[in-house]
Amino acid sequence: MNYRFEKDHVVTIKDFTVDEMESIFELADEMIPIAEGEKKDDDLYGKLLTTLFYEPSTRTRLSFEGAMKRLGGRCIGFAKPGTSSAKKGETLADTIRVAAGYADVIVLRHHHEGAARLASKFSDVPVINAGDGANQHPTQTFLDLYTIQKTCGEIDNLKIGFIGDLRYSRTIHSLAEALSLFDLHKMYFISPEALKAPEYLLEELKEHEVQYHQFDKPDAILSELDVLYCTRIQEERFADRLEFEQVKSCYRIKKKLLEKCGAKESLKIMHPLPRVDELDTDIDSSQHAVYFQQAKNGVPVRQALLAMVLDKNFS
Ligand code: NCD
Repeated sequence: MNYRFEKDHVVTIKDFTVDEMESIFELADEMIPIAEGEKKDDDLYGKLLTTLFYEPSTRTRLSFEGAMKRLGGRCIGFAKPGTSSAKKGETLADTIRVAAGYADVIVLRHHHEGAARLASKFSDVPVINAGDGANQHPTQTFLDLYTIQKTCGEIDNLKIGFIGDLRYSRTIHSLAEALSLFDLHKMYFISPEALKAPEYLLEELKEHEVQYHQFDKPDAILSELDVLYCTRIQEERFADRLEFEQVKSCYRIKKKLLEKCGAKESLKIMHPLPRVDELDTDIDSSQHAVYFQQAKNGVPVRQALLAMVLDKNFS
């Protein structure tokens, strides 16, 4: 595959076209044997990635580090801001300037919306957004789309429902934006009133001529869906503890509910993980569960992205 990567940074899903996303997925397919350790590769030998994680992470950080190492590169970084100079009051801009002098690519997770954009202004090496507050999580979106394509055979024309914390979930915000670029004219949002999708996102969907339907329970729509994308209630984003307490266990997807609502045999249930209590473990062994495969897909997809970002004329 010959491909020229045109981006300096990966900050928002809005910077990507469908063709660009499809090139990432094509390369991810080629990366699978390397991701699984069956084939050796040292395409990124001598390259250094730094992970600057100001918020907790399991999948995103480990899969980025795993992806880099499987391609022969190395990693440095921190997983807790308390062990970095942020603790001493260093600004993000200064940390980024310094980290850009040490590494070839920066992977940043931060609680402030817009942090990755700001970082990209202060870095002369590529910055990859690994989640900025409730805003965006573009690399999760690449692996989510890749998983949909792999498990459903296509993305176009599917009926996709989102359930849970539509207000604060950055994975939903990025994924809904990305899906609006595909040939998919309807989306289904299921949440209590307090956790509805933000107005800016709904406006963007309208601009892309996507019709969206909002529900407060899954019952009325579940039987029509091809994909149900669940998220945990994002406890850490609530300014008001009481507000969180009111919605914290507002839904639970379990086998009985799927049966009661007549879910399709082929329904795929996705979740970026971690889960708390919204997705019963009785789904894990069913044909509906794709969330562990989804997490695993993070490695080949992030390998593809790193290869493209670090080797612009990838072939
Ligand atoms: C998500 C995140 O950090 O936004 N996790 C992930 O990257 N897989 C989802 C979440 O924390 O709920």
